[in-house]
Amino acid sequence: MNKDFLLENFINGIPKAELHLHIEGTFEPELMFKIAKRNNISIKYSSVEELRNAYSFNNLQDFLNIYYAGANVLVTQEDFYDLTKAYLDKVHLQNVQHCEIFFDPQTHTSRGIGFGTIINGIHKALVEAKEQDGITSKLIMCFLRDLDSDSAMKTLEEAIPFKDWIMAVGLDSAEVGNPPSKFTEIFNHARNNGFITVAHAGEEGPADYIWEALDLLKVSRIDHGNNSLDDKKLVDELVRLKVPLTICPLSNYKLRVVKDLKNHPLKKMMNMGLVITINSDDPAYFGGYINENYCAIAEALELSKEDIYLIAKNSINASFLNDNEKELLYKKVDAYMELNK
Ligand code: ADE
Ligand code: ZN
Repeated sequence: MNKDFLLENFINGIPKAELHLHIEGTFEPELMFKIAKRNNISIKYSSVEELRNAYSFNNLQDFLNIYYAGANVLVTQEDFYDLTKAYLDKVHLQNVQHCEIFFDPQTHTSRGIGFGTIINGIHKALVEAKEQDGITSKLIMCFLRDLDSDSAMKTLEEAIPFKDWIMAVGLDSAEVGNPPSKFTEIFNHARNNGFITVAHAGEEGPADYIWEALDLLKVSRIDHGNNSLDDKKLVDELVRLKVPLTICPLSNYKLRVVKDLKNHPLKKMMNMGLVITINSDDPAYFGGYINENYCAIAEALELSKEDIYLIAKNSINASFLNDNEKELLYKKVDAYMELNK
């Protein structure tokens, strides 16, 4: 049988965790049109096809403009539930055992949507997925870094009553010109309230932003982190501290962080000893969910079964599950590897 086909099957079946996924980035055009109609909101594009054709980006900001416009049709708790359920149903079929999901409350609260409306809708779908499919999950609330820190603080205060449902806080949106240092005080306050921290850093921004995320925001993972490779001392530090990077291959390609997936540094990063995971970021916009990301990068860089096995294990190790939960998932991955040697 064809070698690529065999590896694709292996990837599809391996138990895995997804750690870098924006729920607003899973908004497929079909669902967007359905919800827009339900809410009596008009969309700038006349059809699903026309909207999909607009998904061509020169950089992160190009993408963010369309991504925020799409999110504008989300209004009710049911909308957030439907969005989350659609993602979970999809990745259940991709053998995702556990996911850690970003959500961007400011995108919605700035339009007058209540924080409770957003999180109740998302949470309901997460609870159901655990009951029905056994998928476990954590929520990560992101601050939009292009907004000011007062807005972030207000959002953090709104989140505190829902602390039991939110594992961590993160930082996303337009990176360049909005360094992690802008949010030092917010992240201190978040950690004092028991939140773990992560941050997007080094996607378009410099290696210095990754240093700031580590030193000032005390992050447990770096989201993206591609530009760490510009700074040898930083790579040594990430290796020494075993800070996982949540890499998103198709996102990097679509947002022109890399010109070609064949030039993607993922394998080089693994060889340097960095803890690498593979994720989809905003799958509805970038042409693939988690398995398509694994397959695309595996093909481009000629990854082996052992590479895939290591990355799947990293995804569990880098998650915010407790040790017992991790142990159960390691066993599943090991059993799968044993069966598919
Ligand atoms: N929000 C959604 N996707 C993002 C990305 N790739 N980078 C920064 N912010 C984002
Ligand atoms: Zn992201």
